[in-house]
Amino acid sequence: MAPRDTTLFYLVLCLGQKIEAQDGNLSIPTISATPGSVIPWNESVKILCGGTPESYLYQLEILGNSTYKVVEKKLGFQKTAEFVIKHMDTNTAGRYQCRYRKQYSWSVHSEALELVVTGLYDKPSLSTNGYLVVMPGENVSLRCSSAHISFNRFSLSKERRAVLSQHQNGGRWGDFILGPVNLSFSGIYTCYSWYSGSPYVWSAPSDALQLVVTDTTNQDYTTENLIRMGMAGLPLVVLLVILAENWLGRQVPHKEDQQELPELSCSRQKTQTEWTFGLTPRVTR
Ligand SMILES: *[C@@H]1O[C@H](CO)[C@@H](O)[C@H](O)[C@H]1NC(C)=O
Ligand SMILES: *[C@@H]1O[C@H](CO)[C@@H](O)[C@H](O)[C@H]1NC(C)=O
Ligand SMILES: *[C@@H]1O[C@H](CO)[C@@H](O)[C@H](O)[C@H]1NC(C)=O
Ligand SMILES: *[C@@H]1O[C@H](CO)[C@@H](O)[C@H](O)[C@H]1NC(C)=O
Ligand SMILES: *[C@@H]1O[C@H](CO)[C@@H](O)[C@H](O)[C@H]1NC(C)=O
Repeated sequence: MAPRDTTLFYLVLCLGQKIEAQDGNLSIPTISATPGSVIPWNESVKILCGGTPESYLYQLEILGNSTYKVVEKKLGFQKTAEFVIKHMDTNTAGRYQCRYRKQYSWSVHSEALELVVTGLYDKPSLSTNGYLVVMPGENVSLRCSSAHISFNRFSLSKERRAVLSQHQNGGRWGDFILGPVNLSFSGIYTCYSWYSGSPYVWSAPSDALQLVVTDTTNQDYTTENLIRMGMAGLPLVVLLVILAENWLGRQVPHKEDQQELPELSCSRQKTQTEWTFGLTPRVTR
């Protein structure tokens, strides 16, 4: 082999190895559903499968009878493939996964996405025996109850995503404890009832409950802002009072010490009034 050919040979070999190395190391695809994974019957949902820009084929699969079956394929270079289910029903509900093809191999499978269809049974009701406006760190207890029929599963969902499930051995309600809560627990909650034998087929949603997690105990934001402003102004008031005291102290001749005291206690009184005014709304709950 001429030196030049050798170089070329190694270059090709090197490139080949590089391709092979990339090939055996494809990132795990992502899978998600929009607007969410809990979809009312007959409504549409999009399933997004995320790969790399070099992926040229995407495949969506659904779990049925313990094996995954191909639902749909999308051909064409794209970083994310979009699969649309136009009408959700009991057949399109289930456990999905996807994968993509790049160069000569398939990626591994994505995590599973559980798509639920709702509205197949009457709605349960969602209630709380506590407050719906709470402070971070508190626990919130919610009860999902069905009026007539017994179910063995209840699920709590927040903005179309299932957050918690409760197992019951045939019962009319399931209890959920949220917490200790933080600000991200704020939102609209609904609940559903279902049977363990058909895990992706749920009742209609309960009426919604809105949970508010807030740093301050006050629900009224106008009052809250006023309090904040009051608190911010407080040091200024204190400063003014101190200055006033000082000034008065200088004004009053030293010999008339007895007269100085009432003056001072009067301005202190004023301070206390300010304090009480500033603090009263904050301690109410
Ligand atoms: C895949 O490649 C990335 C960098 O491209 C590297 O960080 C990662 O460790 C590799 N994974 C495996 C399993 O080789
Ligand atoms: C399902 O939804 C479509 C609109 O997306 C509507 O035309 C159709 O009537 C609905 N079917 C039923 C049975 O409600
Ligand atoms: C699942 O398998 C059973 C028998 O093994 C069969 O009767 C049934 O039709 C299958 N269901 C689906 C959805 O393929
Ligand atoms: C909230 O519940 C946890 C247990 O889940 C408990 O340890 C904690 O004390 C509870 N907090 C409050 C404020 O009740
Ligand atoms: C709130 O709590 C959840 C679950 O305990 C946690 O995953 C999340 O990171 C927390 N968020 C914030 C903003 O602290």
